[in-house]
Amino acid sequence: MAAATSEAAGKKCAAPPRLSSVAGRARDALVFAAGVAAAVLAMLGPASPFIVPAGVRVVGPVDVAAPVPGPADGPRTFYDDPGLSYAAVGGRRLTGWDAKRAEWLRSRGLRNAPERVVMVSGSQPEPCAGAGGDHLLLRFLKNKLDYCRLHGIELVYDAALLEPSMVAYWAKIPNVRAAMLAHPEAEWVWWVDADAVLTDMDFSLPLSRYRGYNLVLYGWPKEVYERRSWLGLNAGVFLIRNCQWSLDFLDEWARMGPAYPEHARWGKVLRKALTKKHDDGACDQSALTYLLIKNRGRWGDKVYLGTDYYFQGYFAGIVGKLDGIAARYEAAEREAAAAAGVRRRHAEREHLRYAAARNAVVRDVVPGPDGGGQSGWRRPFVTHFTGCNPCGGRRNPIYSSEICDGGMRRALAFADDQVLRNYGFRHASLRNNTLLPLPFDYPAAGAGRSR
Ligand SMILES: *[C@@H]1O[C@H](CO)[C@@H](O)[C@H](O)[C@H]1NC(C)=O
Repeated sequence: MAAATSEAAGKKCAAPPRLSSVAGRARDALVFAAGVAAAVLAMLGPASPFIVPAGVRVVGPVDVAAPVPGPADGPRTFYDDPGLSYAAVGGRRLTGWDAKRAEWLRSRGLRNAPERVVMVSGSQPEPCAGAGGDHLLLRFLKNKLDYCRLHGIELVYDAALLEPSMVAYWAKIPNVRAAMLAHPEAEWVWWVDADAVLTDMDFSLPLSRYRGYNLVLYGWPKEVYERRSWLGLNAGVFLIRNCQWSLDFLDEWARMGPAYPEHARWGKVLRKALTKKHDDGACDQSALTYLLIKNRGRWGDKVYLGTDYYFQGYFAGIVGKLDGIAARYEAAEREAAAAAGVRRRHAEREHLRYAAARNAVVRDVVPGPDGGGQSGWRRPFVTHFTGCNPCGGRRNPIYSSEICDGGMRRALAFADDQVLRNYGFRHASLRNNTLLPLPFDYPAAGAGRSR
């Protein structure tokens, strides 16, 4: 029975050669087909997606890098619902997201794909007020692009306030929510503040550690849940699962923001409820802390709060160590016999394999956890320049210009050296942007001794 059916099906599917070649060209043209054609094809259904209706001119052959699902492919999804709102404020609340997303993934054959991450970052639409701010933002963005390219992560960078009343640090909520809806293929949305630098290009997010959690934050559970300190966590870098829980959480978080009339009242509530809070301003981070404490069963228990590595690290404790860290990594690679293989030149595309091998070499010699931490000499995964305000130019007066401006340049060069290595270059130093070509067997050859 099965054989007969498949034979029959095989016969049925054997299209005349002429038709199939037309189909190929028609498919290419379809990508750019006008709405009328799309509508007609949609009615024809998935059984005959390549039949070109009368009156439609085939403008092929068109160069398309990969087959793109045409407008007629696939069943209706949540995107076809005119009530779907990308707005974090004032739009219709989105419900049943987990089922909608699962259905979308199933219909696109992506149900069992590995977990994907979309990084979201952004900055203000206007030019920076601070001197050199735009150039710094460009370099911060380039750093994120580099990391994402090496790790197969897509980057969404916003230069628009999707909800104008959600100003400053509140702006991330509408942008993260919109990215979640626009990227149902992503299991995680990774918000990274514009002023955070990825300083370990060899480190990958340890996603398996986050099974059972929906939100990942850098912080100290004791500070948050026992001391109720709003400085017990950092809201500038977080990983949030693409699920209904997260949409509900973002809704509730947004409700404490400046788009809502209760915002001013929240400022007073937060000041009273949290420690180390000395003003009446409701900021995103104090609001987040409050939510976790207030409803720990619903929110807190799904939050991975830890300092196991520098998921985001405070820059002032890091920038002074970067030269020492670079020197230790270089020495480890130079000395380890096993490093000969990992020193081999390779395509950027192979980065992750070499990164894993390099980490294994370094792990044996350089103290500290993968991804860096407050002790040890491992590379910090993320160095966050909280309070340096590179775009606005008004840094927190507790910081010197050397630690902020000098620190940012050093951290960017430190990261860039890891990227440039695949191109055969490095900076003369973390303070000198001149590029030097690398000897073939760097760093063994760089040591100037023969082995
Ligand atoms: C930067 O490095 C280059 C190459 O080593 C050197 O010639 C140049 O003098 C350095 N610049 C500064 C300002 O130190």
